[in-house]
Amino acid sequence: MSERPMVLITGAANGIGRATALELARRGASLGLVDVDAAGLEAVSAELKELGTPAASRAADVTDRDALRTAIAEIEAEVAPVDVLVACAGFGTLTLVPELQIETLKRTFEVNLFGVAESIEAVLPGMLSRGRGHLVGIASLAGYRGFPWMISYSSSKAALIAYLEALRPGLAKRGVSVTTVCPGFVRTAMCTSVPYKHKIKMIEPEEAAKHVARAVLRRPRNCVFPFSMRVGLAFLRIMPDRIFDWMMRRAGPRALHVEF
Ligand SMILES: NC(=O)c1ccc[n+]([C@@H]2O[C@H](COP(=O)([O-])OP(=O)(O)OC[C@H]3O[C@@H](n4cnc5c(N)ncnc54)[C@H](OP(=O)(O)O)[C@@H]3O)[C@@H](O)[C@H]2O)c1
Repeated sequence: MSERPMVLITGAANGIGRATALELARRGASLGLVDVDAAGLEAVSAELKELGTPAASRAADVTDRDALRTAIAEIEAEVAPVDVLVACAGFGTLTLVPELQIETLKRTFEVNLFGVAESIEAVLPGMLSRGRGHLVGIASLAGYRGFPWMISYSSSKAALIAYLEALRPGLAKRGVSVTTVCPGFVRTAMCTSVPYKHKIKMIEPEEAAKHVARAVLRRPRNCVFPFSMRVGLAFLRIMPDRIFDWMMRRAGPRALHVEF
């Protein structure tokens, strides 16, 4: 990777993506930004300009192949070929048994799985031809077990975790590494909109961005944060299914203002 790596971030206009762009700019990266939120992109671009960061941004939906590929080609022509992709664009909404709708499930997979795959397939040929690159997928702790108030989101992130894992060996031998990032609760629009009954401990997007930026620089296989959630995740993964089911049945009325 060059002295000043070129990092392409999707979902860069808000939340974790925006904070990661600013954190990486401070650490000397050049940046390409993609998001559906054109106004948000403009605001981040202005901040990057103040930092003197070489950067370009384009409004595009990661599920729209042609628009995404055009956006990335223009960004690469303006800045540099992509060294690192941070696929951060994501979509999450409550999905509960009484309101199950296949359309919600499809849209969630469209953005959280196929949108990441579209982003990867857009930058991968360049990385393979150069024999180096790094793909960072922003999954979620919610992908490790099925949470009953986020049926669509949990299943899309589980699929993403498996997809990134399956890509890893074939790409490693071609010089491209893959990092799976699993954040816990981060104070962004996506997380604060969930009607939890009690105050949930959330980290700020700026703290999440520090973890993502470190992952960009160090290329670990997994990046799970914050530490408390890492411990929680370890428990969740080894927890017997029957205990998990019991916990989730109890969690409903105790944790949420809605019933599932
Ligand atoms: N916040 C958390 O607690 C948390 C925890 C674990 C994982 N994550 C993951 O972290 C990533 C970032 O989430 P966040 O919390 O920072 O959410 P956020 O604040 O809502 O930011 C997501 C950004 O992605 C954009 N976006 C959504 N769909 C897109 C699409 N199809 N094409 C291009 N851009 C799109 C959004 O635009 P609009 O706002 O205009 O839709 C928004 O700017 C997501 O993948 C999320 O699943 C978040």
